[in-house]
Amino acid sequence: MCRATLSAAVGLLILSAVFTPARSFMAPLHFPEPDKLPSHPELPDPLVMLNGERVTSKQQWIDQRRPELKALFQYYMYGYLPPPAPITAKIEHEDTKAFSGKATLREVAISVGPSDVPPIHLLLVIPNQRKGPVPVFVGLNFCGNHALVKDRGIRLPTVWMYPQLPGVKGHRATEAGRGKQSDVWALEQSIDRGYAVATCYNGDIDPDQKDVREGIQPYLRKRAGKHGPHDWGTIAAWAWGVHRVVDYISTHKDLDKNRIAVVGHSRLGKTALLAAALDERIALAIPHQAGCGGTSPDRNDNPKAETVQRINTSFPHWFNDTFKQFNNDTDKLPFDQHCLIALMAPRPVLLSNAVEDEWANPRGQFRMLQAADPVYRFLGASGLEAKRMPPPGKLIDSTLGYYLRPGKHSMTKEDWKIFLDFADKHFGKLAVNP
Ligand code: GCU
Repeated sequence: MCRATLSAAVGLLILSAVFTPARSFMAPLHFPEPDKLPSHPELPDPLVMLNGERVTSKQQWIDQRRPELKALFQYYMYGYLPPPAPITAKIEHEDTKAFSGKATLREVAISVGPSDVPPIHLLLVIPNQRKGPVPVFVGLNFCGNHALVKDRGIRLPTVWMYPQLPGVKGHRATEAGRGKQSDVWALEQSIDRGYAVATCYNGDIDPDQKDVREGIQPYLRKRAGKHGPHDWGTIAAWAWGVHRVVDYISTHKDLDKNRIAVVGHSRLGKTALLAAALDERIALAIPHQAGCGGTSPDRNDNPKAETVQRINTSFPHWFNDTFKQFNNDTDKLPFDQHCLIALMAPRPVLLSNAVEDEWANPRGQFRMLQAADPVYRFLGASGLEAKRMPPPGKLIDSTLGYYLRPGKHSMTKEDWKIFLDFADKHFGKLAVNP
């Protein structure tokens, strides 16, 4: 039974707090125009600075090369993330006996900026059987929080939504979609394994349409705009939203701020990796079937996989304007996606894929792990413990992890089982049911 619905009507129960923003904002640097960059048909060495100097110490990686790579990815591809903003959080709905009493389920409004900016609505489920703070998966969803659970206290998003989703009419969510995507997030399985999950609809931050101005996006537009063609695209805005969620969960007494994993599917997998690469508070990343613009090579040699030109044409709002200048010449990019993975070092990353999802380039993604591995070794960490791509169904659970399963482009309960196995391996198996 739903124990308490916290709303304006029960003002005294409203919880509200202010959190300090993360220091992930990167002041813009100036780099050469794309046509002035040298051609690199081979993958750029992540351990060589843009000026050709080799990185020779861990400190140099941390102080120079890592910030340079963060700036290069923002300058040439994703755009500079908007500056962080302080947040306030207010519980909108709570059920302390969700999933037959196994979890506390909440929806929390996370507000940024002036009071007319709509909040991010965060769905948070926390296992009730716990000895201390629990690890947490953070990620954006495509379908709205109401689609993940049946609880009628979880609000319907009011912003633009993908038309192909169950229950969506005229680009708006309706009651018909409630609970219809519960298999995609399989929340109960994570609860049973001792993990909390925190998720919100990506459209709360920036609806996935070039010309729709809803969610936090209009506010973010006001706060950016100074870097012209190097300004943020939608994937960077989503990553900014993930950072605000991390601001919130880092201060939550029931959540372990040292065991924050970020997860996302496809375009939201690209977002997950970018968010984690730019923010060291995130301890582990699982970009699932992320593909082009995320985990697969920009220098693509797989004819079945998506190319930079194709993604920039189909989804021009995902990246910044500068990235389009590489459409016909990816060899000029001063990085490839292995450098984004290398920014995670020495933190664990799992690239998970599906055999029939050639569009996301499973083989190319394995190559990106191989090319990121030297940075992990350089920092004294372990990296990819597999010489070859594993057969379907076999999890490589080394610090740089890989998984390929039979089937198509989707996120399933079985995928989540693998995510949990990988997290258990790196976070330490959890004592559940104490
Ligand atoms: C399209 C796009 C991919 C993206 C995918 C998704 O297929 O080309 O880059 O990952 O949508 O987000 O589902």
